[in-house]
Amino acid sequence: MAVLRWRGLEFTRLQIAAHLGAWLPLLVLVYDYRADNLTVNPIQDITFRTGKPALVLLILSLACSPLNSLFGFRQAIKLRRPLGVYAFLYALLHFLTFIGLDYGFNPKLLYDAIFEKRYALVGFAAFLILLPLALTSTKGWQRRLGKAWKRLHCLVYVAALLVIVHYVWLVKSDIREPLAYGAGVAALLLLRVTPIKQRVHWALLALTWRGARRPPARAERPGLASARAPGNRPE
Ligand code: HEM
Repeated sequence: MAVLRWRGLEFTRLQIAAHLGAWLPLLVLVYDYRADNLTVNPIQDITFRTGKPALVLLILSLACSPLNSLFGFRQAIKLRRPLGVYAFLYALLHFLTFIGLDYGFNPKLLYDAIFEKRYALVGFAAFLILLPLALTSTKGWQRRLGKAWKRLHCLVYVAALLVIVHYVWLVKSDIREPLAYGAGVAALLLLRVTPIKQRVHWALLALTWRGARRPPARAERPGLASARAPGNRPE
């Protein structure tokens, strides 16, 4: 299925699309920065345009496991790690924008900002959780940590929920968008609960089984089409 081979690495079409898609918001941001296309508040614009991709990529990486286990979409599992790492990289840029561009790396101002603004505090907590997850995302760390690796990486759901709280708290009026992302994270979290996962699994199996058993449409039934063919009609 590989369509591209590069330095011993093989990429499928989906992997290429995922990598390109993950780079796209950053490339557009750099382009807009160079073309002087940012809004009148460029720092806020950069903050938004790094925060949103971080959240979207985080949710997409969480969706990979259920896509594989429930829908049999096995290619998705290969995307989980890169999407998670890209999510962290955008979160890092978002964080650097806040501490560097917004607060000029001033520790006193930063301390006040993070501990006075509740949305910044939960965002910071989410970032602190994502940091060790990104650092231990390699196969080497997975081997070294054994079972603890899985337990550690379950914290990604805590980080995702904190990011949703961060988003809900920072928007001033219309919270529909952060709530929609929140519903996505909640659904993915529920699919981790074994009894729920099993029920969804059985429901999907029942649906595919019923679909497979449904008799073909009238014209498709063997014999019917030929019986209706011109010159083959009953006199
Ligand atoms: C120390 C950690 C963080 C700080 C200080 C921080 C700070 C901010 C600030 C200042 C804004 C813009 C608020 C405004 O001007 O209205 C923002 C927006 C946002 N942040 Fe964070 N953030 C942090 C971590 C994160 C993380 C880890 C994520 C995701 C993984 C994230 C996702 C978002 C999203 C989705 C938005 C809204 C973007 C939009 O409305 O388009 N943040 N954050």
